[in-house]
Amino acid sequence: MNAPAYVKNPKLIAWVAEMAALCKPAKIHWCDGSEEEYNALCQQLVDAGTFKKLNPVKRPNSFLACSDPTDVARVEDRTYICSEKKENAGPTNNWVAPADMRATLQPLFDGCMQGRTMYVIPFSMGPLGSHIAHVGIELSDSPYVAVSQKIMTRMGKAVYDVIGTDGAFVPCVHTVGAPLAAGQTDVTWPCNKTKYIVHYPETREIWSYGSGYGGNALLGKKCFALRIASNMGRDQGWLAEHMLILGVTNPQGKKYHVAAAFPSACGKTNFSMLVPPAGFEGWKVTTIGDDIAWIKPHDDGKLYAINPEAGYFGVAPGTNFHTNPNCMASLDKNVIYTNVALTDDGDVWWEGMDKDTGKLPDHLIDWQGKDWTPQIAKETGAKAAHPNARFTVAATNNPALDPAWDDPAGVVIDAFIFGGRRSTTVPLVTEARSWTEGVYMAATMGSETTAAAAGQQGVVRRDPFAMLPFTGYNMSDYFQHWLDMGDKLTQAKAKLPAIFCVNWFRKGEDGKFVWPGYGENMRVLKWMIDRIEGTAQGAENVFGISPSYNELNWTGLNFSADQFKTVTHVDKAAWVEELKLHEELFTQLAYHLPVEMTATKAALAARLATA
Ligand code: GTP
Ligand code: SPV
Ligand code: MN
Repeated sequence: MNAPAYVKNPKLIAWVAEMAALCKPAKIHWCDGSEEEYNALCQQLVDAGTFKKLNPVKRPNSFLACSDPTDVARVEDRTYICSEKKENAGPTNNWVAPADMRATLQPLFDGCMQGRTMYVIPFSMGPLGSHIAHVGIELSDSPYVAVSQKIMTRMGKAVYDVIGTDGAFVPCVHTVGAPLAAGQTDVTWPCNKTKYIVHYPETREIWSYGSGYGGNALLGKKCFALRIASNMGRDQGWLAEHMLILGVTNPQGKKYHVAAAFPSACGKTNFSMLVPPAGFEGWKVTTIGDDIAWIKPHDDGKLYAINPEAGYFGVAPGTNFHTNPNCMASLDKNVIYTNVALTDDGDVWWEGMDKDTGKLPDHLIDWQGKDWTPQIAKETGAKAAHPNARFTVAATNNPALDPAWDDPAGVVIDAFIFGGRRSTTVPLVTEARSWTEGVYMAATMGSETTAAAAGQQGVVRRDPFAMLPFTGYNMSDYFQHWLDMGDKLTQAKAKLPAIFCVNWFRKGEDGKFVWPGYGENMRVLKWMIDRIEGTAQGAENVFGISPSYNELNWTGLNFSADQFKTVTHVDKAAWVEELKLHEELFTQLAYHLPVEMTATKAALAARLATA
């Protein structure tokens, strides 16, 4: 129960005692982050029926967890930014006054861990002790969370050296909200119908109730590294973004770094592990991060980025040796799978794997524990894996991991990419002519919703900077913060990163994706580098600069000028409609909306009118 001797921070010890008094766990386990502890907790999860140990020959040291069918994704409508003032949460966040939210949560948390163990999980977001990193302590009654945090963060007792006797940490409290009465048998995935994912930005606290899944429960990720960190970044002059970070090296050995923001389940993990296709011999892409970037300006006027995470919590369906070979190679051992299907020989399976084998398996146990056969799937449409099924794996499993992925100094960003999932309207790639135009492109980005969040899927919604569910303050102030960052870099007389807008997802009349995507995205990435180097001219259009057909390297791919036109064509009528949606967004965000946004829109509309 008592804190180990190496925990020397009285504030931390008092907080844990206070939370234990509220949540009333049967036990407290202070996690040390050791291998032994990880293995013991995994065994405990196997014994409890939460984990199935996979075939040790096919997937050594790997496990499958299947969640409650009501607890499969982030719950955006149950996510709150509880700032003192409503305006500071802004119109895109759910808001409740902190005092009212505390009054609501108090009785829910009272006794919420009864019959369970409270794990004290010390973690660092970013390399331990790096000036860019920040630490947190998560209290959770879920051993699944404890083992996941071991993979996803730098978790362990060394964090207490960083905190010392009076260092700061972000307190994160998490409960599945399923207390156990004496003698009550547990279920394999405890959770509660009632869910609250709550952030207090001013006091930098996180309280999460009722879910054991992903971003609802692994509080270092979206809650800390995006919602709380975006507040830290605004106050301290840096950026916390929903971005992958990759390194790309050309055949001459020159290396560039790119940060790309795509909404959830829109291709960040895939792009960050890209394998250059035929025609790109000598090119290399390496992964720094696949989901979150913390980006800080230095005195040299450059932006330095780190990945605050240590692992990948990535979408399984659609991942195969064709779409993402590096990812498949990362998944051969030491993986926690959640909500994928189980094969008869104790391996995992998900939709898309059939592309590798050329056939569907004869029989599976699906993510809900039911029999699955191709016949059943055909008749009922049942998915073997949940569309938001995920793997949890250490970054060090990735064969394409960048040597600098763990460098506390970070890497210099040469370009930003923003991209949504759009069947129509938005062209394959457009470069912004200025920082402000880039901020406008990012701010007005739309995307079709995916299974990564609960709710209706496939509808276009505005998702500014791919941060709609993650900006922990007023969205218009966030736009201003980006504009201010541009001013700051300009004043330092540095070359600003280029900003591009992409869309891999345009569909043809047959309803199929026209652009082959995945590794072939290298062709677009190369053009961006040519633009940075000034060797590609591009063609100016209403929205910015796009490549002409012959500026892309087509070696090794049959993609005609006509097909290219299908993915790059700017349809005037569609854009007139699109601008109405920008207008709608700006009306919603009118409070504190930077004048640059409306001015850029007016210029765009004027160009469109004469196009
Ligand atoms: P989060 O982890 O939710 O933030 O998502 P992510 O952006 O990392 O998504 P991920 O890379 O896991 O992509 C998930 C989905 O996008 C899968 O269904 C992929 O098949 C699909 N996808 C990724 N890249 C491409 C692409 O270039 N083209 C097409 N058509 N689909 C893609
Ligand atoms: C996302 O939804 O953008 C994710 C998965 O990366 S989760 O960690 O659940 O938020
Ligand atoms: Mn994400």
